[in-house]
Amino acid sequence: MNIILLGPPGAGKGTQARILEEREGLIQLSTGDMLRAAVEAGTEVGQRAKKAMDSGGLVSDEIVIGVVDERLDRQDVKDASGVIFDGFPRTAGQAEALDELLEKKDMRLDAVVVIEAEEEKLVDRVSGRFTCAKCGEGYHDRHKQPKTEGVCDVCGSTEFKRREDDNPETVRERLTAYHKDTAPLIDYYEGTGKLHKVDGMAPIEEVTENIRQALPERA
Ligand code: AP5
Repeated sequence: MNIILLGPPGAGKGTQARILEEREGLIQLSTGDMLRAAVEAGTEVGQRAKKAMDSGGLVSDEIVIGVVDERLDRQDVKDASGVIFDGFPRTAGQAEALDELLEKKDMRLDAVVVIEAEEEKLVDRVSGRFTCAKCGEGYHDRHKQPKTEGVCDVCGSTEFKRREDDNPETVRERLTAYHKDTAPLIDYYEGTGKLHKVDGMAPIEEVTENIRQALPERA
């Protein structure tokens, strides 16, 4: 089963993709994570992507499609029961390229889930978040602090990190890019009959349940 999670920054795409990965045996394919890893590793792709990411704009279709194409050929994807596209596609060009990639790789798209959210809450959600540098557990300045200050609840690490683009100004730019380039994809997928909308302002577990109900029954 291959699904796309669409939604503005902070809607909960990554949160839900990680839960579904664990519960449904799918692979989370986050273009944001892949691009950040490339930036951190200092690869050519990372160097080319960094400027757009720092400003909250979109990385070029050519770079992103190349990264996804390569990732879909990896063995763990072939062995898994499907993929969750998290943050991809984000433009009409990427959506068309994804159709071609899926056909070429003999894969099919089963569902597109839009996680809807109240915009004024998103800047707060995103600009307050941080994660454990070791295990990746997510925290928030106001909504979810570690039980012992400065110590990860899950692995005990004392190192945390914040994304460079998680400041209020850049989040607003990311929202602008979402409205301009990504929201129109909702119409693109509406015509396929595979589009579902869920309320991303509900509690995390409820959002997961609503997404699972939108997914087709497994054979
Ligand atoms: P990317 O990493 O994809 O960032 P994004 O789309 O802005 O999304 P986020 O990761 O910020 O939010 P999310 O929806 O995953 O929310 P999360 O689950 O973390 O992209 C970053 C950059 O990379 C882009 O700006 C662009 O430059 C580039 N890029 C990436 N893909 C690209 C592409 N395809 N084309 C071109 N450029 C690309 O949740 C956020 C917070 O809210 C967390 O603290 C979480 O705990 C909390 N939360 C989640 N759900 C709930 C809930 N239901 N209730 C309460 N809190 C919740």
